[in-house]
Amino acid sequence: MTANDHIPEHVAIIMDGNGRWARKRALPRHAGHRSGVGSVRQAVEAAGKHGVKVLTLFAFSSENWSRPREEVSKLMGLFVEALQREVDDLHRNNVRLEFIGARERLQANLVEKIASAEEQTSSNTGLRLMVAVAYGGRWDIAQAAKRLAGRAVDGQISVDDINDAAVARELQLGDLPDPDLLIRTGGERRISNFLLWHLAYSELYFCDTLWPDFGAEQFDAALDFFAQRQRRYGHTAEQIEAVSS
Ligand code: FPP
Repeated sequence: MTANDHIPEHVAIIMDGNGRWARKRALPRHAGHRSGVGSVRQAVEAAGKHGVKVLTLFAFSSENWSRPREEVSKLMGLFVEALQREVDDLHRNNVRLEFIGARERLQANLVEKIASAEEQTSSNTGLRLMVAVAYGGRWDIAQAAKRLAGRAVDGQISVDDINDAAVARELQLGDLPDPDLLIRTGGERRISNFLLWHLAYSELYFCDTLWPDFGAEQFDAALDFFAQRQRRYGHTAEQIEAVSS
C-alpha cells in the first residue's frame, strides 16, 4: 500500500461491455471497442491524478482468440492504431507502458509497436501502465511453473527453492505489487482467467456500467468503494484494529 492507505497502489481492470454498448446503438461491435479507447485514456488520467502507482488493463484474453476472425483482426488493428496515436502523450505524462501476455502470438507490426513503446517509455517514473494482450492467468502460472521446473532439472535451483515468492517472480507482473483493487465493468461478476495468482487478496468491485461509459466519475466511485473496505489478509477485525489504532 501507499502512504495513503485509502488509495490503492495497484488497480486492475476487466474492461467489459464494449459489444453491448455498440449493440444498444445499432453499431458494429468494433465501434464499442473504438469507443473503449476513450475510457482507457480517462482511466489512465484518473489513476495518475489519484496517485495510483500501477494500472493493469485486460485488453485481450487468451480466450478472445476464438472470437470471429474479423473482430480479432480489427481489435489488433485498433491496438496498433492506439499505440501509434497515444504513446507520445503517455511519454509526455511520464507514464511507463508495458505489455504482458503471449506476444509471440501477435502480428509482427503490433509486436514492433509494443517493443518501441516499451523502449520509449522505459525510463519514465510515473504511472506504470500494464496492458494484458493475449493474456490468461492459467497460461501465466503454467509458464512460471515451466521455467522453474526447467531450472530445477538443470540443477540451478532445488525443488525446495520453489515457493510462493519464487513463483510470483516468474509471473508476467514480476515484482510488481498485487492489485489492491480489481474493477470489472459490464455487469458480469467473474474473474475470467485474468490475474488468477495476483487477485488472491484484492478487493473486487463489479459495476454495471459498460466500458465505453466508464469515465472519471465511475473510477472515483470504485476508489470510494475501496476506501471503505477493511483488508484483513486472514487476520481478525480486532487484530487489524489493534495495529491501526
Ligand atoms: C470486452 O468487451 C472488451 C474487449 C475484449 C476489448 C477491450 C479493448 C479495448 C477497450 C480497446 C482499447 C484497449 C487498449 C489498451 C488501447 P466485450 O466485447 O466482451 O463486450 P460485450 O461483453 O458487451 O460483448
